[in-house]
Amino acid sequence: MEQQLKQLEQEALEKLQAATSLKELNEVRVAYLGKKGPITDLLKGMGKLSPEERPKMGALVNTVREYVTAELEKKAAVLEEQAIQEQLEKESVDVTLPGRKIKTGNRHPLTRVIEEIEDLFVSMGYEIAEGPEVEKDYYNFEALNLPKGHPARDMQDTFYITEETLLRTHTSPVQARTMELKKGEPIRIICPGKVFRRDNDDATHSHQFMQIEGLVIGENIHMSDLKGTLDALAKKMFGEEREIRLRPSFFPFTEPSVEVDVSCHKCGGSGCNVCKHTGWIEILGAGMVHPNVLEMAGYDSKKVSGFAFGIGAERIAMLKYGVDDIRHFYTNDNRFLSQFHRTEG
Ligand code: PHE
Repeated sequence: MEQQLKQLEQEALEKLQAATSLKELNEVRVAYLGKKGPITDLLKGMGKLSPEERPKMGALVNTVREYVTAELEKKAAVLEEQAIQEQLEKESVDVTLPGRKIKTGNRHPLTRVIEEIEDLFVSMGYEIAEGPEVEKDYYNFEALNLPKGHPARDMQDTFYITEETLLRTHTSPVQARTMELKKGEPIRIICPGKVFRRDNDDATHSHQFMQIEGLVIGENIHMSDLKGTLDALAKKMFGEEREIRLRPSFFPFTEPSVEVDVSCHKCGGSGCNVCKHTGWIEILGAGMVHPNVLEMAGYDSKKVSGFAFGIGAERIAMLKYGVDDIRHFYTNDNRFLSQFHRTEG
């Protein structure tokens, strides 16, 4: 029996050393130490032994059982450690991988155009003036030489809120308000902001859009000053080689009034689809401030004169960036907006 026990111990130790996983090790444990295992069997068979042999054998079986148990535990610790190492290797993080790019926003193309224009005019000594979007009929029309019932009011389809209040159709009312505030003092301002017209939305029209209007009032302000200023604007927005030309036009608040064209930035003036084969692109309206407008705001039109101009930010952005539909600016589609990311300056 002793011999048998030695052999069992030997076998158990060999098998447990050969185990390569905790599962296999457990199988060895069950096979040798389990209730149905040979060691238990030996203990069960003790009854057949003589009373003198019994304690000796009992002690021997226990020693073997304890030894095998201790060896099993040692091996289990080794296998556990191995399993953890393997897991760690599998789950390891490669710290040399480049990080994921964080998406940052960028300025809206209209904001960029407006800020570029603001920068230019601020550098020429202008101030930026703002005013209400819900405006009085007086500032939007009357103070600009457009009395009630004047046919030229039809030039700007209007959202009326009451008889006397409306959504401003241009930012010119900011100019009227500034003239009233300055009480005869010289003025140099630009007025950026939202304006509203009862237009049907299509590729080139929107019921809401952005304008930047400018106003200069002082002694000895001439048409040549207007022309030089707009020339600087055209060059800043469309490139140093650009030229401008003025064509006669009509606005109730300016006299004379002009429509301003810039030489085509795409073909340089030889004619292409952008300039409709004329070499010129209309970009804004302007003129010398009408004496009635000056007088209504308390300026002496014999002593001072001024010029004004009005730019549509969308139109400039469409030309500058080659956008074919004004509605792209308002739909918040990231596929459109993110295209202005790389050129952000
Ligand atoms: N206020 C005009 C418009 O919105 C633009 C303009 C401004 C024209 C100043 C001439 C002078 O149509």
